[in-house]
Amino acid sequence: KILILDFGSQVTQLIARRVREAGVYCELMPWDCGDDAVREFAPKGIILSGGPESTTAAGSPRAPQAVWDLGVPVLGICYGMQTMAMQLGGTVEAHDQKEFGYAQVRARGHSALLKDIQDHVNAEGHGLLDVWMSHGDRVTALPAGFKCIASTPDLPFAGMADEARRYYAVQFHPEVTHTTQGQALYERFVHDICGCGRAWTSGNIIDDAIARVRAQVGTGKVLLGLSGGVDSSVVAALLHKAIGPQLTCVFVDTGLLRLHEGDAVMELFANNLGVKVIRANAEERFLSQLEGVSDPEAKRKIIGKAFIDVFEEEAGKLKDVDFLAQGTIYPDVIESAGAKTGKAHVIKSHHNVGGLPAHMRMQLVEPLRELFKDEVRTIGVELGLPREMVYRHPFPGPGLGVRILGAVTKASADTLRKADHIFMEELRRSGWYDKTSQAFAVFLPVKSVGVTGDGRRYEPVIALRAVQTIDFMTAHWAHLPYDLLDVCSRRIVNEVAGVSRVVYDISGKPPATIEWE
Ligand code: XMP
Repeated sequence: KILILDFGSQVTQLIARRVREAGVYCELMPWDCGDDAVREFAPKGIILSGGPESTTAAGSPRAPQAVWDLGVPVLGICYGMQTMAMQLGGTVEAHDQKEFGYAQVRARGHSALLKDIQDHVNAEGHGLLDVWMSHGDRVTALPAGFKCIASTPDLPFAGMADEARRYYAVQFHPEVTHTTQGQALYERFVHDICGCGRAWTSGNIIDDAIARVRAQVGTGKVLLGLSGGVDSSVVAALLHKAIGPQLTCVFVDTGLLRLHEGDAVMELFANNLGVKVIRANAEERFLSQLEGVSDPEAKRKIIGKAFIDVFEEEAGKLKDVDFLAQGTIYPDVIESAGAKTGKAHVIKSHHNVGGLPAHMRMQLVEPLRELFKDEVRTIGVELGLPREMVYRHPFPGPGLGVRILGAVTKASADTLRKADHIFMEELRRSGWYDKTSQAFAVFLPVKSVGVTGDGRRYEPVIALRAVQTIDFMTAHWAHLPYDLLDVCSRRIVNEVAGVSRVVYDISGKPPATIEWE
């Protein structure tokens, strides 16, 4: 396994994804995790990430001493290269000429890292790499024992290596897709230099997770809040395989789900897979508690609390439950570790199905805790879940409650469900579903005038939203073809009673959030 020390770059998670894609298990730890943590992890290799700071600033981050004492290969990326240079006796200087974006790097000196990895060969027979560069500071003198392994016309030391100690570093970012040979470079490091095999495959991930769940729960009983979303669905399938009848799922139908969603969840899990699922039909309860409430944060709190109440009531009816399973995934773990130190503003109080209160004092079972979303999806398919469900767009915990602006009513939820369903059908039919990250309809309670035949209509508006994003922190609105929008608009106005007009949301995030509330 590989340890990645995070110096705070925006793209550190991508390093972990690259290493995992190479079939090697890795974890991220903050740069200041300390010597003991590094030693205890016992990595076969260490990667030092990029970061926003300047190594030339007093008190700037450094790798723990254990990194250099363990005798394992180390790869420094960007800031990681600079701190490696500083800590081992080289020099780094700030430079007027900053470099961001595309660059072409010449590989030099036949290093084990870059040998035969190239995009082009120049007239003199040197390998050239197309890379993505982002730095202000630069290494100006190599530490003793190091040689230069890459350069650009502007940057003499774009890469360095001490092959005796197996220390390598590059100033560019091999983890981003703009560096076309990035994956090859990580594979070279983890396989050839660190000697890690390709043990992290979906089959092994499943076997390993099953063995760990069995060891943890023994003959105990496990409760899972099943939402129908990707993560809890994969947990259900995995636990069903691991412990079969010891698992009971509770599915809360809030009445704020998409068209036929509750039935589809029951059909798949209870009927097809044979999982024990209790469906709590709580539509009336949610709608009555939401009645007349139009403030978004108040609505979110009501939905979150009602969810917990219903879930606890159902759980209370079960006897001798020992464990509570949750679909926590690795980015949640990283994020909450980061959130402890961060001072981020609360934009929305997120409610996650499965985020349950501390007083439910059961031991947690979190079999996806170390997995990235793409890994969760891959094992979901391998566990026999339909592709369509595993590759579904995310759906927020509060559901249609945050897509019906203002007060929620049964009639508006029904209207929205139908409109949303038409939008999804057309996105799938046109092949745009998989080209967008999230798409949905929103119910606007403003009325607008329309005309059908000779009649006047005065009815609410439906907004359509489709975005493209990698991390949901920022997003672009999707440039859907006019023809597609046209079909959606016609179908919605014609097929859904009570809609006079359809609009398309062309706001990016920021400044707009993805959901409207
Ligand atoms: P925003 O609207 O903040 O959404 O740009 C970013 C992503 O988070 C989802 N979202 C939620 N997910 N519980 C969830 O589980 C919530 O309360 C919640 N609110 C927003 C949203 O759908 C988008 O994918």
